[in-house]
Amino acid sequence: MHLIICESQAAQAKACAAIIAAQVLQKPSSVLGLATGDTPKAIYRELIALRQGGVLDFSQVRSFNLDEYVGLAPTHPQSYCFFMWEQFFASMGMRPEQVRVPSGIAADLEAECQQYEKDIAAAGGIDLQLLGLGHDGHIAFNEPGESFEKCTHVAALTEQTIQANSRNFGPDETVPQTALSMGIGSIMRARRIVLSAYGKAKAEIVAKAFLGPVTPWVPASILQFHPDCTIVLDAEAASAL
Ligand code: GLP
Repeated sequence: MHLIICESQAAQAKACAAIIAAQVLQKPSSVLGLATGDTPKAIYRELIALRQGGVLDFSQVRSFNLDEYVGLAPTHPQSYCFFMWEQFFASMGMRPEQVRVPSGIAADLEAECQQYEKDIAAAGGIDLQLLGLGHDGHIAFNEPGESFEKCTHVAALTEQTIQANSRNFGPDETVPQTALSMGIGSIMRARRIVLSAYGKAKAEIVAKAFLGPVTPWVPASILQFHPDCTIVLDAEAASAL
């Protein structure tokens, strides 16, 4: 595990973007694993700025997102597919055929999970996977106690995660309780992993995940065993290390 600690959140986002940019510059047809949540937003803004500056070209990149809520159509403003187009894909000039987000409205969700794994394999596997970190140590929607071997699956969200995600939904909207999520098994197969975390609220779980024992009860702790994983933190997220 490599650890990068940056002074500010802005520098932390720049550092993550630089790693992704370097990956794509070295291999323009890279297969990226992408994440949603608040954490990647600033990273995506940095990458968009690099593209606008003529430094970065994503026209040959393929991408696979970590997860999607069950029951939300890609046009639903709270869906992760909508988030990705709004925050990143459109501004990067990406075409629909370059990107894949699991479909939370597939008639057969199990079949969609299997197809997702096949699509990742057919693309040659993920070169670089970007991850955020949930407050309970979850990565994608792999909640505490989930087996380390799982591939893409239908995941039941914990009360804490539903609560945390409710901030993005209106008072009259129901927060989905299940999602399609790449499993720890799928994530660990990525050739490189970059986990990004910032802010005081993540300090305790960062210390638990990366200094504590490797256990399914802290899903991100498995990253200690990945051969090429970089944890990029700001000073606040690193404050309990
Ligand atoms: C959700 C997503 C995760 C993300 C996590 C943390 O549960 N499924 O992929 O890492 O939230 O979100 P945030 O970056 O907003 O703290």
